[in-house]
Amino acid sequence: MNYVTSVIVAVLIGLPGSSVLASGADALDSPIAHGARLAAIGGCAGCHSRQDGAPYAGGLALATPFGTIYSTNITPDSASGIGTWSEQDFVRAMRMGIDPRGQHLYPAFPYDHFTHASDADLDALYVFLRSVEPVRAIAQDNQLAFPFDFRGTLLVWDALYLDAGALPVDAAHGSEVDRGRYLVESLGHCGGCHTPRNALGAEKRGEELDGAPVDGWYAPPLDQHSPSPMPWTVKALTDYLKSGIASDHAIAGGPMQDVIVNLSQGGDDDLRAIAVYLVASMDVREPQRVMREQEARALASRVLSSVSVDGKSDDIRFGKLVYDDACASCHDGGREVSSAGALELPLAIAVRDADPKSLLRIIREGIVPRTRARGRFMPAFDGILTDAQIEALAAFLRDQAGHAAPWPDLAKAVAESAM
Ligand code: HEC
Ligand code: HEC
Ligand code: HEC
Repeated sequence: MNYVTSVIVAVLIGLPGSSVLASGADALDSPIAHGARLAAIGGCAGCHSRQDGAPYAGGLALATPFGTIYSTNITPDSASGIGTWSEQDFVRAMRMGIDPRGQHLYPAFPYDHFTHASDADLDALYVFLRSVEPVRAIAQDNQLAFPFDFRGTLLVWDALYLDAGALPVDAAHGSEVDRGRYLVESLGHCGGCHTPRNALGAEKRGEELDGAPVDGWYAPPLDQHSPSPMPWTVKALTDYLKSGIASDHAIAGGPMQDVIVNLSQGGDDDLRAIAVYLVASMDVREPQRVMREQEARALASRVLSSVSVDGKSDDIRFGKLVYDDACASCHDGGREVSSAGALELPLAIAVRDADPKSLLRIIREGIVPRTRARGRFMPAFDGILTDAQIEALAAFLRDQAGHAAPWPDLAKAVAESAM
C-alpha cells in the first residue's frame, strides 16, 4: 500500500492510531505539502533550478572533477521533463540511478543517498513533483572527459559504491534520533559535502561526515571530530538549519547557504530530528571537549584587539594589525553590541577548521546572507587586503582566536583562494 492510499484508507476507516497518522502532524495535511517539505530537505530545487530559472526545470551546471554535468528538468512536462515517468520509473531513478531508458545517471545526482529513502517518502516526493508547474526546458549536454562521458562506466561505479536499498531502521516509526539519522543519510544527503571522496568521486566509507573540501570551502566534520568551539545544542542546531544562524555559532556561508535556503522550507519536526541525531553524534563527553568549550568562552570574553602578541612571529604580529584595522570594529564586541556587531571570532568554526579554506573564502567574499538573517552582512575584503595581509591575518586568528597549531601550507592556500 503506498502512502496516498494508506492515508485515504486510514481516514476512511478512521483509525486514529494507524501507523501513518502516528508518524506526526505532517501526515495530517496534504501529501503534496508533505512531499514539498521532503523536497526541501533533499535540496531538489537547489540543484534542479538555475539562478532565476523556473523551479525544478533543471539546467544548473555542476562542476565535478570529471567535467560539467547539467541537472535535468524534473517538472511534469511530458516532452522535456519527467511527465511520462511512472512512479516505478521515479523510484528506480532515486534508488538505482537508472532512467526509464535504462541509462545510468551520474552520481552528481545523489542517488547514493536517495537510495535509502523510504517507500512512503518517495511516494510523497513523486506526488509533489507531479504537482509542480510543467516547464519545457531541455537539459544541455554534459561536458565530460573520456571515459566518463560514456554512461556505461557508471555500471562499474554503481557496482563498487552504490549500497542500494533502504536503511535497516524503520525511520518513519522509530525514535526521533532514528528519523534524524535516516534524513541525514537519505534525502538530506549531508555527506554529499561533509564526507571526503575518493579518486572516483565516491564518498569514503568509514569517514562519513568527517569533513571535506567543497567548492573552495571546507565542510566541517559533523561527527565526533566536530571542531566547533561551542558544542551544538538541539535548539541551536535546529535554529541554524531553519535560518542559517544561531547564537554562539558562526552564520552559514558558501555552499551551506544554499542548503539552508532549501532546508528552511522543510518540516519543523524533521529539522529537529536532524538536529537531535547530529548533536548526539557530535557530542562526546570527553574532558578535552569540555575544556575546549571553556577555552572558547574565555577567549571570546576578551577583546581580540587587546591581546598581546609580544614575542609572537612577525606574521602573527602583522596579522593583529590587520585585524585591528579591518575586523575589530565589528567582531570585537559580539553580535549584541550594535547592529553592525558580529560574532567574536574565537567562536567562529572557521578558525578551528582543519583547513583554512572557509576562513579565506569568508575574508575574500564576505557574507551576504540568503535567508532570514538578511541584516547580518559582512563586507568582502578581496582586492582591499593583499595576499600577504590575508595570510598574516589568518595566521593571527588561527593562533589567538582558534588557539590551534598553525595551518600547514597557509601561503599556498591563500594563493589558491585568489578569486
Ligand atoms: C547535488 C545536486 C542534486 C540534488 C540535490 C538533486 N539532484 Fe536530481 N539530478 C541531479 C543531476 C546532476 C541529475 C542528472 C544526472 C545525469 O544526467 O546523469 C539529476 C537527475 C535527476 C533525475 C533523473 C531525471 C532524468 O531526466 O533522467 C531525477 C528523477 C531527479 N534528479 C530527482 C531529484 C529529486 C527528487 C531530488 C530531491 C530529493 C533531487 N533530484 C536532488 C542533481 C541533483
Ligand atoms: C562591517 C562589519 C564587519 C567587518 C568589518 C568584518 N566582519 Fe566578519 N562578519 C560580519 C557579520 C555581520 C558576519 C555575519 C554573522 C555574525 O553576525 O557574526 C560576519 C561573519 C564573519 C565570519 C563567520 C563567523 C561569523 O561571525 O558568523 C568570519 C570568520 C568573519 N566574519 C571574519 C572577519 C574578518 C577576518 C574580518 C576582517 C578582515 C571581518 N570579518 C570583518 C561583520 C563584519
Ligand atoms: C553543498 C554542500 C553541503 C551540503 C549538501 C551540506 N553542507 Fe553543511 N556545510 C557546508 C559547508 C561548505 C559548510 C562550512 C561553511 C559554513 O560554515 O558556512 C557547512 C557547515 C555546516 C554546519 C556548521 C558546522 C559548525 O559546527 O559550525 C552544519 C551544522 C551543517 N553544515 C549541517 C549540514 C546538514 C545537516 C546537512 C544535510 C541536511 C548539510 N550540512 C549539507 C556544505 C554543505
